[in-house]
Amino acid sequence: MDFGIKVGKPEKQRGACIVVGVFESRKLTGPAKALDKATEGYISSILKNGDLDGKADTTLLLHNVPNTLCKRVLLVGLGKEKEFGDNAYLGAIRTTFNALNKTGAADATLFLTEIPVKERDDDWKVSRAVMLGLESVYCFDTLKSKKDENKSKLSQVTLNAVDNKKMTVGKESVQQGQAIAHGVSLAKDLGNMAPNVCTPTYLADQAKAIAKAHKLKITVLEEKDMQKLGMGSLLSVSQGSRQPAKLIAVEYQGLKKMEKPVVLVGKGVTFDTGGVSLKPSPDMDEMKYDMSGAGSVLGTIAAVAEMKLAINLVCIVPATENMPDGLATKPGDVVTSMSGQTIEVLNTDAEGRLILCDALTYAARYKPDVVIDIATLTGACVIALGHVATGLISNDDKLAAEILSASEQSTDRAWQLPLWDDYQDLLKSNFADIANIGGRAGGTITAACFLSRFTKDYRWAHLDIAGTAWKSGKEKGSTGRPVPLLTQFLISRAKK
Ligand code: BES
Ligand code: MN
Ligand code: ZN
Repeated sequence: MDFGIKVGKPEKQRGACIVVGVFESRKLTGPAKALDKATEGYISSILKNGDLDGKADTTLLLHNVPNTLCKRVLLVGLGKEKEFGDNAYLGAIRTTFNALNKTGAADATLFLTEIPVKERDDDWKVSRAVMLGLESVYCFDTLKSKKDENKSKLSQVTLNAVDNKKMTVGKESVQQGQAIAHGVSLAKDLGNMAPNVCTPTYLADQAKAIAKAHKLKITVLEEKDMQKLGMGSLLSVSQGSRQPAKLIAVEYQGLKKMEKPVVLVGKGVTFDTGGVSLKPSPDMDEMKYDMSGAGSVLGTIAAVAEMKLAINLVCIVPATENMPDGLATKPGDVVTSMSGQTIEVLNTDAEGRLILCDALTYAARYKPDVVIDIATLTGACVIALGHVATGLISNDDKLAAEILSASEQSTDRAWQLPLWDDYQDLLKSNFADIANIGGRAGGTITAACFLSRFTKDYRWAHLDIAGTAWKSGKEKGSTGRPVPLLTQFLISRAKK
């Protein structure tokens, strides 16, 4: 699906379909009015018949409208004008693409990005429309023998701009929207891939392919390299698996070398059985998504490279399976992390922090400006924030504020939880420096407290995406979150 920006009048558009919005109750937007005028009241007469009131999530497709040059007109309900904010705008764009994808139209011109949305500028509206358009045709049928035949025919989308001056801005937003959508789609593909295919080696191969496509530097550490570095904690998770662990590092350089990079660390557990502390069987298949942090950082670096952002970025992925076997770590085992701190593994299902802690220690060698780790870390985070917000915890309030602002801008929600010292005591161990669990209470925070023991030398934030990285139920699948948040964070930094 290609996107363009143009200045034009609805009644003058040739092509397969034009899209105009209608507020509740039957209140025409500017372009809808223009069209109504050109068609001598045709649009309003149809609304008067009661076929469309303007309620959100409704559409009406008209064919061969008199005095127009296009084949179809799609009317889209926008809800109440007074309530037209982020969610209403994004909802209207989604509804539009869902309706367009069902028609035979190969091209469409949208007169929606010019409608005022509270506190949002044209850049935002254009990049969101492009992202949602591309997202509407995302489909993961790689593993099906028969591919979906009802694929959308829509291949060219034009977004109308109000005037020429806004067009240069618009083009950049189109590119950003495309790059973010590509990153989201990459993260989704990795998350959705079956865990017998998506192994640590597969993640490393995919990272190599991204690096090759964008000419990025990549390093993949093997288990023997990890051994030399003393990554006893990471290796204690992979030792119960037949699949060798990998530690992947991809470097993007958009600035001079000396500029300190942002380092993203993504949890890459390609399947989490819980290990000896085995998880219950129902829904265990969903633990293939336990590499979503890894998917999101790879998607983000691909998007950043596509946008050629002026920033230095390093993505680190500790990749492993968490399996039970004769050699697997047992509850009570004490392991030594790369930092030298010893860890009592009281629950082998708290494996994410065990691989992240060594990756976070390793991250220090890049002399980072800030480090953000992204992980499907705790079921407790799903209980606390549901499937709406990603959990955010940081040792630096300025960094947290920067992330929250990116979250607001990208409408990829995050919510901050505290990292108070009061919680640290819960990780006391009688036999090692630290235990790997802190009990059920405050599970998301104690997990972050564990990580904080390894991030004392730099500004760091942790994103718990256990509730936001994928959807269960009928629409089971990866969401590609938080690629929009992370890319926005980097876009905002690159502008400085
Ligand atoms: N990958 C899971 C976290 C998870 C659980 C994500 C459910 C999404 C949905 C993680 O490795 C895990 O098992 N965490 C344990 C930690 C506990 C043993 C302290 C959990 O949350 O139950
Ligand atoms: Mn686990
Ligand atoms: Zn896990």
